Amino acid sequence: MTTITVHASREYNVDVGKGLLAGLGSKARSLCPRAGTVMLVTDSRVDALYGRTAEENLAAAGFRVERFTFPAGEASKNTRTYLELIDRMALAHMTRTDLCVALGGGVTGDLTGFAAATYLRGIPFLQVPTTVLAMVDASVGGKTAVDLEAGKNLLGAFWQPVGVLCDTSLLSTLPEEIFGDGCAEILKYALIGDPELYEDLRAPFRDDPERIIARCVQDKRDVVEEDERDTGRRQLLNYGHTFGHAIEKCSDYTVSHGSAVAIGMCMAARAAAAFGLCPGDVPEKTAERVRALGLPDRTAYSARELALAAMSDKKRAGDRISLVIPDRMCHVGLHPVPAEELEDWFTKGL
Ligand SMILES: NC(=O)c1ccc[n+]([C@@H]2O[C@H](COP(=O)([O-])OP(=O)(O)OC[C@H]3O[C@@H](n4cnc5c(N)ncnc54)[C@H](O)[C@@H]3O)[C@@H](O)[C@H]2O)c1
Ligand SMILES: [Zn+2]
Repeated sequence: MTTITVHASREYNVDVGKGLLAGLGSKARSLCPRAGTVMLVTDSRVDALYGRTAEENLAAAGFRVERFTFPAGEASKNTRTYLELIDRMALAHMTRTDLCVALGGGVTGDLTGFAAATYLRGIPFLQVPTTVLAMVDASVGGKTAVDLEAGKNLLGAFWQPVGVLCDTSLLSTLPEEIFGDGCAEILKYALIGDPELYEDLRAPFRDDPERIIARCVQDKRDVVEEDERDTGRRQLLNYGHTFGHAIEKCSDYTVSHGSAVAIGMCMAARAAAAFGLCPGDVPEKTAERVRALGLPDRTAYSARELALAAMSDKKRAGDRISLVIPDRMCHVGLHPVPAEELEDWFTKGL
C-alpha cells in the first residue's frame, strides 16, 4: 500500500493498494470515532458489485449503515438526486459527527461530496473511488458538485474528504472503455509535468496499477496544495480539455470524455508546434503515447464545428480563453487566446 498525505484546508491521507475495501469499516472508525450513522452512497452498477461487501464491512465496525443508491450515469448527478440524498440523511437524523461514504466513480464522489459539504453546513465524507478517473482525479482535491440544466458542475463547493481509499482490485470489473477514460487523465499528468511517468507509461499497467495511480495522486496533490481554490496552477489540469469538450459536444457526448481529452491533448500539441510555441517533435511524441494507451489521437470534426461548439460555452467575441499548451515535452503553460482566434487553433490542431 502507498499512502499520500494531502495538506489542503484539511489534511488527509490517500491510501492506494489492493484489497483496501476489506479495511473500510476500521478506516472509517479511526477517522470518525464518534460517528453512529454512515450514509453509504453508490450508483446502481457499483452497488450490485460492491455495495453489500461495503455495507457489511461498515456494520461490522459498529456503524448503523444507510444505503443510498441512484441510477448509474452522469444524468443522475443533478439537483434531484442531491435533494433525495439530503432528505435521506435528514430522515436518518444524521448529525455533524456522522459520515458519508462515496463508493463509486466521479459521479458518486462529486454528488456525495456536495451533499456532505452542505448538509448541516458540512459533515465528514470518505471517498472510496472505484474508477481510474475517480482515483487519480475526482476524489483528490475537494471539488464537489452537481450539474444544472445550464451546464456541468455549476452547483458545487470546495469540501475536502476526511480520507480516500483507492482499492485497485476494484478496477478489475471496470469495462475497457471506462478504464481507457482514466488512462487519458493519467497521461495528462505525465504531459503537464511528469517526464518519469511519461516513460513509465510505455509498459501496460492494467494488471498492477498501484504505482501509476499513486504517482498521479502525488502529482494532483502537488497541484492542489499550491492552488486549492483553482485560481492559478490548478488550471493546468485542464490540458486537452478545451479542445476535448468541443469534441464531446460535437459528438453529442457519444465520444467519451477520456477519448476526447486524448484527442484534445494531441490537438493542443499540434497547434502549439504549428505556432512555433513548442518543439516540432512534441505532437508526435504525445500522439505515440496516446495510441499506446489505446486512445484516439484525431477527430473528423471540422475546425468550424469545433469552434462553434467551444463558443456555445458562455464564450463571446472579445473574451480571452486560457488555453493550456505545451512549451516543451512534459511541460505546459497557460496561453490566453481571443475567442475569435479559437477556430485558427482548431485548424492547426487538426
Ligand atoms: N471533483 C473533481 O475534481 C472531478 C475531476 C474529474 C472529473 N470529475 C467528475 O467525475 C465524473 C466522471 O467520473 P467517472 O468517469 O468515474 O464516471 P462514473 O462515476 O459515472 O463511472 C463510470 C461508470 O463506471 C461504472 N463503475 C464505476 N466503478 C466501477 C467498477 N469498479 N466496476 C464496474 N463498473 C464501475 C459506474 O457505474 C458508471 O457506469 C464526471 O461527473 C466529472 O465531472 C470530477
Ligand atoms: Zn477530465
